[in-house]
Amino acid sequence: MFRRVSAFWDLAYLTGFTPWDSDEPSKELVELVESGAIKPCRALDIGCGTGSNVIFLAARGFEAHGLDISKIALLKAMRRAEARGVKCYFHNLDFREVKKLGGLGVFDLAIDVGCYHSLSHSDDRIRYLHSLNEVLRRGGDYLIWCFVRRRTSSWGPPGVEEYEVERNFGNKYALIERREVKTSFRDLLFYHMRRTG
Ligand SMILES: C[S@@+](CC[C@H](N)C(=O)[O-])C[C@H]1O[C@@H](n2cnc3c(N)ncnc32)[C@H](O)[C@@H]1O
Repeated sequence: MFRRVSAFWDLAYLTGFTPWDSDEPSKELVELVESGAIKPCRALDIGCGTGSNVIFLAARGFEAHGLDISKIALLKAMRRAEARGVKCYFHNLDFREVKKLGGLGVFDLAIDVGCYHSLSHSDDRIRYLHSLNEVLRRGGDYLIWCFVRRRTSSWGPPGVEEYEVERNFGNKYALIERREVKTSFRDLLFYHMRRTG
């Protein structure tokens, strides 16, 4: 069964119950771009929300695309990009639907802050991987931030098992860096990978 979840995310963005939402780009992304480790290229933010990372990349000379299932998040992202005077490309798509991604073309960089880890079902995570392999070129970089799976009953996204990312992405992606980030909510894992297969 294919679960429709856009209403859930639209409601969060409409009511402003979006504790993840920040005006700031992700620290690890800023480090990689400012050190020159990742250079301007064609980039896609999967589940871009209100667009902080897309706007940051566009301002640094990337052809920056953001994709999200929530129209409300994208409206906010478009307004923010316009206010900052940067050219971004936003797409209202469900990343689990590989057949609808064809028009996007192929990217050199894909990033995901909190989209993969919010998928609750293993078949959705498999669909996500098919989609990633469709849009990211071989040799392209992939950055992902995930909460570690909750051990006790707390609210929030399901997160990932400790070695799930290595296991699920391993045969087509080489690990460049894995970093554990402590947050006041739940431990976060950051991965920098490169598509090899
Ligand atoms: C936790 S939020 C993170 C948003 C943004 N990356 C940030 O850091 O602010 C997860 C985002 O993924 C989007 N999302 C969830 N499932 C998705 C799917 N199947 N396809 C595309 N976007 C999705 C949600 O609408 C939401 O904006």
